[in-house]
Amino acid sequence: MSAERKPVLDLDVSAARKDFPALHQEVHGKPLVYLDNAATTQKPTAVIDAIDRFYRLDCSNVHRGVHELSERATKAFEEARTSVKRFINARTEREIVFVRGTTEAINLVANSYGRSHLKAGDEILISALEHHSNIVPWQLLSDQVGTRLVAAPINDDAELMLEEFERRLGPNTALVAVAHVSNALGTVMPVQEIVRMAHDRNVPVLIDGAQAVSHLRVDVRELGCDFYAFSGHKVFGPTGIGILYGREDLLDRMPPYQGGGDMIRSVTFEKTTYNELPYKFEAGTPHIAGAIGLGAALDYLSRLGIDHVTDYERGLLAYGTELLESIRGLRLIGTAREKAAVLSFVLEGIHPHDVGTVLDRLGIAVRTGHHCAQPVMARFGVPATTRASLAFYNTKAELDALADGIRQVQQWFKL
Ligand code: ALA
Repeated sequence: MSAERKPVLDLDVSAARKDFPALHQEVHGKPLVYLDNAATTQKPTAVIDAIDRFYRLDCSNVHRGVHELSERATKAFEEARTSVKRFINARTEREIVFVRGTTEAINLVANSYGRSHLKAGDEILISALEHHSNIVPWQLLSDQVGTRLVAAPINDDAELMLEEFERRLGPNTALVAVAHVSNALGTVMPVQEIVRMAHDRNVPVLIDGAQAVSHLRVDVRELGCDFYAFSGHKVFGPTGIGILYGREDLLDRMPPYQGGGDMIRSVTFEKTTYNELPYKFEAGTPHIAGAIGLGAALDYLSRLGIDHVTDYERGLLAYGTELLESIRGLRLIGTAREKAAVLSFVLEGIHPHDVGTVLDRLGIAVRTGHHCAQPVMARFGVPATTRASLAFYNTKAELDALADGIRQVQQWFKL
């Protein structure tokens, strides 16, 4: 999010907050200030009600029954797929694969596309900002087929060094896989540029959108990416459900990731033929309630207006950044010009776990640790940070509470 654009505060945050029951509680006798949205977001009643309705009334398996309940469940499940398609502007539902989450989506691509299309000596180019889920699957693939993982560096503001990235796009690069938004530091990556550079060399691009979908408009056709992965629970939907978007022609050429029910057309002991897209990649009974909940979450966010969310969060981030920068002994890690609403920091002389523990006693939920991004921590020479990650339902008053809380932590440790 560019610091230059003026925030447009069109979001009625106090009305939206009423949609999230979990926000209205006390923790340790203090009003909850929930600032751990990059780990998981809270769920609106629209999502809770959709899941409740499925289990109370429509509970049945999908694609298998001729009875009324199964038809209802199938309809709701497939309508959820259409909601996802609409939300990311995919061309067709055939490009929308339900998976467990971003991690499974990336593992699917590594196993299916990777093992069938990549060979020893091929390089997979990532950035130095990646979550472990966009590092380890490629290392597993390297062990299996002999590919090589290459990471493009970031600068001191945690921005990708695009020239260095381009320099690493060589004749052996066979796939690019980058985060859209860094989970640990909030950097918004120049994905449009990355796709252009990679496609100029006929290299396909996977984008890990886990931390982007709740903050930014995602249009896979505009991005032009080949794969896009995200998790339901980080975009106000349920855990255990996520999406792999893949370009239809690519998905068509990929073998199934897992075998089992629903992914087949016919099975004999001699030969199995596979189902059409996207079912070829959805073996076994899916997380039906999860998919329905995710569809409800994306519809909810669309009603709210993702552009309003982006603008509102831009203002919130600017406010929080200024507030935290005014605290002596606090160092913000991740100061990219294009940034989503994440404030990662270290406090001089105090371990992040201690910061998190004291903040918790004040009712403030943050995440502390390496955020599943150890190479990022190593790049900045810290073992861990305290991370406040915001959503559109957070307020300036909550950021004031965070700043007061940090000062109390410092007093507690007499620094
Ligand atoms: N990947 C999640 C986070 O950043 C869990 O907290």
